[in-house]
Amino acid sequence: MIDEGASPDRVVGSNLASRRVLVVGASSGIGRAIAVRAVRRGGQVVMTARRADRLDEVVREAGGGFIAVGDVRIPDDCQRMVAEAAELLGEIDLLVYCAGVAPLRPFDQTTAEDWSQVLETHVIGAHQTVLAALPFLGPGAVVAFLSSETVGRPRSGLGAYGASKAALEESVRAWQTEHPRTRFTSVAIGATYPTEFGDQFDPDLLRSTLEVWARHGLMTEEMLRTDEVADCLVGVFAVALDYPGVGLEHLVVRPPSPIAASFAGP
Ligand SMILES: NC(=O)c1ccc[n+]([C@@H]2O[C@H](COP(=O)([O-])OP(=O)(O)OC[C@H]3O[C@@H](n4cnc5c(N)ncnc54)[C@H](OP(=O)(O)O)[C@@H]3O)[C@@H](O)[C@H]2O)c1
Repeated sequence: MIDEGASPDRVVGSNLASRRVLVVGASSGIGRAIAVRAVRRGGQVVMTARRADRLDEVVREAGGGFIAVGDVRIPDDCQRMVAEAAELLGEIDLLVYCAGVAPLRPFDQTTAEDWSQVLETHVIGAHQTVLAALPFLGPGAVVAFLSSETVGRPRSGLGAYGASKAALEESVRAWQTEHPRTRFTSVAIGATYPTEFGDQFDPDLLRSTLEVWARHGLMTEEMLRTDEVADCLVGVFAVALDYPGVGLEHLVVRPPSPIAASFAGP
């Protein structure tokens, strides 16, 4: 017999109405696109990042939502931002942690500050945010963290970045072990544009680095589009919230594209 679920006629995942959503790192790129879609799908959304003016723009673009400004590298800010979100939302059904930073640097030139930046942003900030959020997570909450396809397949120039995302994914497994009823999820994402991810990359170093990636078969001919990634993820999370019995432990989001034989330019 086919079990159609609680209500076969119900259209699941079509919206986030009544869902309470916190997007960390919502001022640009994938986080911004997720926040905009979450609002437009009816969610009550709190968006966080360091740049208040950019968050105000996101609220205007989305047509709603609230902002909480702060730096995830500062543990007190994580605590305060989540407290502000909880004050506005009550409970949190969906937390999407998108805050990220990527110093492009050969591993033998990577500095202690590079390490602090990636570890504090991706690992410690994520941990402190969850610690603050635990008392407010609704039953069956989804807590998702954006990771990277570089984990397990390191790219030259992004050694510290990839190592920090590996630590993030192991942290997600630690949360899954200790809090099995909350759906902690890591989302490994392939190259996605447009975002501000590479805005600080040195153009000459980037060109030579991309040539190396292509030689090692680490570049696809096509990249993911930010809006499409955000649409897919918000859709997946919306469906998952309708089915608290389904865990999403690890998602991989990559372009269905051939590997690039070489890096053509510019
Ligand atoms: N784009 C890609 O190709 C790609 C591929 C794989 C994985 N990812 C991952 O996807 C996530 C989003 O990346 P993106 O490409 O959308 O980059 P992005 O456009 O640079 O967005 C990064 C976001 O993180 C926020 N952020 C950074 N440091 C922060 C801090 N200390 N405190 C609070 N917020 C902080 C930024 O806001 P403020 O600067 O305003 O604070 C911004 O909203 C990252 O985790 C990245 O590693 C991206």
